[in-house]
Amino acid sequence: KTVAFAGSGGLDSCTITRWLTDIGVNVVCFTADLGQPDEDDIEAVRQRMLQAGATDFVLLPAREAIAQAGIDVIQAQACYEGRYWNTTGIARCVLAKAMILEMKKRGLTIFSHGATGRGNDQVRFQLITNMLAPEFEVYAPWRDEAFLARFPGRSEMIDFCQEKGLPVSATKDKPYSTDANLLGLTHESGMLEELTTPAHFVKPIMGCYPVDAPDETVEITVRFEKGVPVEINGNSVGLVEAFLQTNAIGGKYGLGIGTHLVENRFVGIKSRGVYESPGVELLGTCYAYLLQLILDRRAREFYDQLSLLIAKQIYQGYWYDLATKMALQAIKCTAELATGTIKVAIYKGNISFLAATDVAHSLYSEENASMEGVGSYNHADSEGLLRVFGVSARVLATSGQVKLTE
Ligand code: ARG
Ligand code: SIN
Repeated sequence: KTVAFAGSGGLDSCTITRWLTDIGVNVVCFTADLGQPDEDDIEAVRQRMLQAGATDFVLLPAREAIAQAGIDVIQAQACYEGRYWNTTGIARCVLAKAMILEMKKRGLTIFSHGATGRGNDQVRFQLITNMLAPEFEVYAPWRDEAFLARFPGRSEMIDFCQEKGLPVSATKDKPYSTDANLLGLTHESGMLEELTTPAHFVKPIMGCYPVDAPDETVEITVRFEKGVPVEINGNSVGLVEAFLQTNAIGGKYGLGIGTHLVENRFVGIKSRGVYESPGVELLGTCYAYLLQLILDRRAREFYDQLSLLIAKQIYQGYWYDLATKMALQAIKCTAELATGTIKVAIYKGNISFLAATDVAHSLYSEENASMEGVGSYNHADSEGLLRVFGVSARVLATSGQVKLTE
């Protein structure tokens, strides 16, 4: 038997790989290059996975794909429960798809992963595999009684790895777990499970906390064309570069670093996360400013519903289904119009609007918005309009539905 295992080189990955190998299962390890900020690690991951017993190590190039997915997230403003840019959720979608495509080429049919039985990741891996490759089997050791009996907790895994001479240094007192990619980092579990552990217990990797940021303001200009960031501070950028540059600038000034969320997992458990996504926060906020110049009230209302839906779809692992496809088509209608340049300032984790220029389809009219006597909006016309609205407003009173109370 051969399994394709999505491995990260961590304690769980090494333990699972070795345990499977010992019981006669062939493990082929798959790791994606998702532009993890701690990039040099991939070579170390290869070493560790091979040492743990993997018969092969496959590196999946996925930087372009994660950057493209990041643009989709930004265009949809797909934040889960308001604050989390879904950076891990979307990366699972990108990873699983790349892995399934490669598995098909290699004739592998068992998709295995080290996500726990309590989390969202297991759901994502499972549903994506079921949807994209219904003939595949998904094997999750964390849900296997035999594995659980052998490894009730982390300490058994650490002992096991040490016994087998596998390098698991630093994992012993690792205070929380981190998932990383180009779009951001997510920190969870461990010490963060205790509500008395403050969010700033996490040591940022992509930048610094606002209090530690330099006491100065930085100005950034982002040019979008049809919903895609194409220039930063006047220099043209590709998609990956757009995230790398905004991660660097945003991170340095504490933007999107340490976002704390107690969130509702798909399986019903509340969990705590501390997030870092400086680039997505910067590009996403600029995009929101731009979009608001373009969407009218009705489009905006529909957009907000799509945004909420897409965020949930990503979070729950339904990125490749029909509802997401339909919603993304609608979002594309808005992105098509999103051309313009937004200038912002960042100061200690705060971002503020400075200017919008060359916005192709802006509905904003200084003349119409003006309090001065200019534009085609005549104050006196409002008299008749409000008389019409007033008819139904008064009925609310005469019907007794609305009453003046103390
Ligand atoms: N709660 C987030 C999500 O479900 C992040 C999970 C990340 N996992 C981790 N081991 N850090 O998308
Ligand atoms: C895990 O349990 O594997 C990580 C957290 C999650 O999936 O939500």
